[in-house]
Amino acid sequence: MAFNSILAFFIGASLLVIGAFASGPASVCSAGKSQSPVDINTYLSPINKTLEPLDRQYSSLDVQKATLVCDGKHLEISLNGNGGLKIYGKPYNLRQLLFHTPSEHRLNSVPYAAEVQQVHEAPDGSRAVVAILFKYGPPSPFIDMLMPQLEQLAKKPCPGNEQRIDIPKFDLSFLRKWPRDYYRYLGSNTSPPCTENVIWNVLSEAKTISAAQVTALSAPLCQENKNNARPVQPLNGRKVQVYDEV
Ligand SMILES: *[C@@H]1O[C@H](CO)[C@@H](O)[C@H](O)[C@H]1NC(C)=O
Repeated sequence: MAFNSILAFFIGASLLVIGAFASGPASVCSAGKSQSPVDINTYLSPINKTLEPLDRQYSSLDVQKATLVCDGKHLEISLNGNGGLKIYGKPYNLRQLLFHTPSEHRLNSVPYAAEVQQVHEAPDGSRAVVAILFKYGPPSPFIDMLMPQLEQLAKKPCPGNEQRIDIPKFDLSFLRKWPRDYYRYLGSNTSPPCTENVIWNVLSEAKTISAAQVTALSAPLCQENKNNARPVQPLNGRKVQVYDEV
């Protein structure tokens, strides 16, 4: 009897161990302690005087060829230029712009109309993201630039496979002009495998976007993915710090 329960215990324990490995990196999404997005309490986030301004060097890639990609769940622009962002002297290359409607990050529990995430990657694979929030208001000139391609994607909403549309002259100079103050914290990719140690920089000043532009950003998505924001994740003791120019 006792032997049987000990045996059952060991079998159970081994199954747990096997289970943990079998679920692989995807388990970081549920077990990780430094996940994104988060709800940023701006009143509790201290200014850190030693943070540096975001060193954005997009000039060499101001106008380049890009591809708008949609699989019905995610909408992104894929880029392959060099340069983009330096953090503590380490260069990260701009790889992707991800679009989310509504925003993934929240400021003081308030979701925004949309969020654009500039995903940068260093040669060693580590990532740094600059996120810009959009609130409803006048149309964004940046999103305006993508309207012809978004309209084309919307003709085949919710494609079974990946749709790709070239943007012959994608002007990145907007990215350099975006606001300077930001919230910095360590988080993760917001879609599986939810890899952690991503340096997040959420710009503190929201830009505006029109209702028609928000509709255009979600039009190519499947009905169940019209809201493609991951829910906010617990901070688990992480501190969000503020870079304030003044
Ligand atoms: C401020 O930021 C620097 C650079 O990231 C960091 O080393 C330091 O610990 C931060 N200061 C505080 C008080 O958290």
